[in-house]
Amino acid sequence: ETAFYKEKYRPQFHFSPKEKWMNDPNGLVYNDGVYHLFYQHYPDSTVWGPMHWGHAVSKDLIFWEHKPIALFPDELGYIFSGSAVVDKNNTTGFGTKENPPLVAMFTYHKMEKERAGDTDYQSQGIAYSLDNGDTWEKYEGNPVIPNNGMKDFRDPKVFWNDITGKWTVLLVGGDHLLIYESDNLKNWKQVSEFGKNQGAHGGVWECPDLFKLTVEGSDEEKWVLFISINPGGPNGGSATQYFVGDFDGKTFISDQKEKRWVDTGADNYAGVTYNNEPNAERIFIGWMNNWNYGQKTPTVTWRSAMTLPRKLTLHKIDGNYYLKSYPVDEIEKIIEKGKTDEYVGITEKVFHHENFNSSEIKFNTAGKNFELIFGNEKDSLSVVLNNKSIVVDRSKSGLVNFDSSFADKVHTANIEALPDTQFEVRVILDAASVEMFLNKGQVIMTEQIFPTKPYHTLKIRSVDGQKLNLHDFQINKIKSVWE
Ligand code: FRU
Repeated sequence: ETAFYKEKYRPQFHFSPKEKWMNDPNGLVYNDGVYHLFYQHYPDSTVWGPMHWGHAVSKDLIFWEHKPIALFPDELGYIFSGSAVVDKNNTTGFGTKENPPLVAMFTYHKMEKERAGDTDYQSQGIAYSLDNGDTWEKYEGNPVIPNNGMKDFRDPKVFWNDITGKWTVLLVGGDHLLIYESDNLKNWKQVSEFGKNQGAHGGVWECPDLFKLTVEGSDEEKWVLFISINPGGPNGGSATQYFVGDFDGKTFISDQKEKRWVDTGADNYAGVTYNNEPNAERIFIGWMNNWNYGQKTPTVTWRSAMTLPRKLTLHKIDGNYYLKSYPVDEIEKIIEKGKTDEYVGITEKVFHHENFNSSEIKFNTAGKNFELIFGNEKDSLSVVLNNKSIVVDRSKSGLVNFDSSFADKVHTANIEALPDTQFEVRVILDAASVEMFLNKGQVIMTEQIFPTKPYHTLKIRSVDGQKLNLHDFQINKIKSVWE
């Protein structure tokens, strides 16, 4: 059964499809004891094609059970990205109050040959399930939002809006956000738009999300808008930007001037958050890939994985709002805690481990002036903190030549806003990924890597001759969820 998960580069504790192609997470919703994860899926190939919604469920966001495909393309088109809600009051009439329906809202993308022109390219449809996601019926009145004349018009994120007592849906129309509302998920009216002149516009806007967070350590509430863009990411290709602002139930506004990214690494795209989360937390999952090279990564039977599920929090640092994302606590149950060490006044230290590509490295330090080098001369991944930025060089990390854009440059992020006092460095490596969280997710780099052999050594060294103090230093094994 699980022999499958011994394949080269198969993630051991990140979600990946059993086989074939996967892109965006879709329909993230908690219902009746389970977290649903639907995803963009093409079951006939390991590259993108006619889109379906694949499906998996989990009780804890760590151990996933694969389910049959939930939504198949039909005469209205492929099934593109979207979201799902629990219709608790049965506003749709698809179920009953005793057995409320799970309702998915998605984009229909018409096949090229059946298009009359750009104006009937993309529209929005809904489907419902009365057995907690096992089987789905599409609504016979689809599309519920016909095309509005835009070529790119997609990725509905629907949620129950407490301010208006209605359903709200976010859509993207090329270079901006559109907000609609409805009483029954079937009849929709546009109420506002946002963003034509704000934020990053290096590529088309995709996969919106909008939610409220309380600023940590205060009573201040702000709304956070996510917009994925491709291309135009800070390190090339795909990336997700965020805006912090206010939402009156109909209109989102933000006076944020600078561009902000959920993750500055190359491999976190189209991420969105859970609806109906039982602990009232904001839990995020992203597609751990990049459209630049995503269809060419060197895996054989499947392609792509999701990021670790991450909890989102909002912080105010020197008058600026920052979003932090950090792995959910549930990950701790597969982490085998080893010993804790102190390394004081060192300039270089080499660590050995049976397999760094199933591990976490964690320590606290006050300096931003060191390098981590995983692996040996043949295969090595370098992460440098040079006081001003973090620089990730994966050009020698293993297989890199499957696409020229994978390792053509180093990936960087500004770290000047990190504290000058102690902060945590946490690095989590799986078979084909590295996720780095600085100061509990204030700066994050998520990157795919394809080492020819698992890394066995880690060298940590000072980059400027200054002595390093590494406190509470741990190297912990992360167990496979398939063992
Ligand atoms: C983002 C995206 C979405 C679209 C889907 C198609 O990666 O381009 O905008 O709905 O992928 O698979």
